[in-house]
Amino acid sequence: MDAIALDSRLSKPTATFLSHHRKLLVDGEWVAAASGKTFSVYNPATGTVLAQVAEADKEDVDRAVRAARRAFDEGPWRKMTGSERGRLMWKLADLVEQHLEEFAEIESVDNGKPLAVARVADVPLTVDMFRYMGGWATKVTGSTIPWSVPNEFFSYTVREPVGVVGQIIPWNFPLLIAAWKLAPALAAGCTIVLKVAEQTPLSALRLGELIQEAGFPNGVVNILAGYGETAGAALAAHDDVDKVAFTGSTEVGKLIVKAAAGNLKKVSLELGGKSPTIVFGDADIEAAIPGAASAIFFNHGQCCCAGSRLYAHKRVFEQVVEGVSAEARKMKVGPGLDPSTDMGPLVSEEQFQRVTSYIESGIKEGAKVVTGGKKASGNGGYFVEPTVLTDTKPSMKVVREEIFGPVVCAEPFDDADLERIAKRANDTIYGLAASIWTKDISKAHKLANLLRSGTVWINCHNVFDASLPFGGYKQSGWGREMGSEALANYTEIKAVTTKL
Ligand code: NAI
Ligand code: MG
Repeated sequence: MDAIALDSRLSKPTATFLSHHRKLLVDGEWVAAASGKTFSVYNPATGTVLAQVAEADKEDVDRAVRAARRAFDEGPWRKMTGSERGRLMWKLADLVEQHLEEFAEIESVDNGKPLAVARVADVPLTVDMFRYMGGWATKVTGSTIPWSVPNEFFSYTVREPVGVVGQIIPWNFPLLIAAWKLAPALAAGCTIVLKVAEQTPLSALRLGELIQEAGFPNGVVNILAGYGETAGAALAAHDDVDKVAFTGSTEVGKLIVKAAAGNLKKVSLELGGKSPTIVFGDADIEAAIPGAASAIFFNHGQCCCAGSRLYAHKRVFEQVVEGVSAEARKMKVGPGLDPSTDMGPLVSEEQFQRVTSYIESGIKEGAKVVTGGKKASGNGGYFVEPTVLTDTKPSMKVVREEIFGPVVCAEPFDDADLERIAKRANDTIYGLAASIWTKDISKAHKLANLLRSGTVWINCHNVFDASLPFGGYKQSGWGREMGSEALANYTEIKAVTTKL
């Protein structure tokens, strides 16, 4: 086992948290894996070991699902009112807020993102999500339904929790996506087995401690760290899980669907994207340039909704490409804990290899590197320069596939026909997000109407609110996270009819 290397800049609570072996949360207890196995978690800024974590496997999944089942069928959770559930969620939100700095530090060293980003985005949005969904806990209602035959029957519907939910999450926003998953399921009254990403298990495990502190009954939230092919696959296939919710690659999303077929558990999926950023000639260029840059470079491009295809009108194309490239050159790439860092390392060596091989494939197929394109120097970490490619063609891999790194493909358009512009923007298997940059607001809304994606941003990109549904058309997924729509992922509807 490798020794844990702790950064001296970390606060005492974070250092203490990292220096103890982290365990699995099952039925309200922190337990070792049934196999006794642990795995190393790495700091992507240095490639050194950050923590040791218990490695859940099928047996641990069975144990956690049993606990969640008991908590759902027999525990106090089922009988708690929405108001009581909501209060617990608000308490949890308060606790996360009180520990904001610690969560930001954990997220920064585990995922690589700049501390400042975790402070203003990941952690506060997590707090908001628990508060927002805590409010819904008292508002999970049905309706009364008028019959076509008058005065013979009376019918109403109720929304009930779907039951035991398996949730599998990725590493790009480890704490925030945990909240996107947990909060609506808790509001609905489900019990949960959450399988966190093997690259970044730490913030969710810390969250587990606060879930206990807040006073959630045992077994309501169980948290497992472990690999996808073992723990994740066992959870997705488990016969006593009523629903599986997944965020990650489209490739694994398809495996989840197959695994879920055994007991036909309900499935919701939030998958990849290849989102267009569309800049018109009449855009406010001063806003569109930093906007298009941040659309792709925020979180190092490791966003499912990253604006990875940049289309700019011929009239402003050169200016936009030069502007976005200048923004890229200005960005300081370095460790997340360094206050001057704008962009941290990619999450893992695997992602580093993936992203750099995409850049190579683009070059090989004829793309031109305007800026970036190389490994950025730095101390054993997985740093890649923010990269702008031009001269790409719609058939190239870099244009078609999700790179999930700081790499944008810029192409000009010379057209006023919105149908044709939309056709190009929609030319992808994905349909997660898009942004439109123009001062002509009617044109923006007409184009928004033609885009096949779950989110359309006008004169902005990557803005989120707990109240807004988020999710994908086409191969970007099934169902919606956040907003009232997220409750549908975690409820069944029952129609009750009386003969009058
Ligand atoms: P992945 O889809 O393999 O992993 C996401 C989660 O699924 C992790 O918790 C993992 O342990 C689990 N998992 C993996 N295989 C599984 C299986 N057979 N059954 C059940 N669970 C399984 O993503 P990965 O390998 O980390 O990244 C690969 C690519 O996926 C990225 O380059 C990116 O393109 C995409 N991705 C998209 C994300 C999104 O937010 N839509 C997030 C992370 C990755
Ligand atoms: Mg994978």
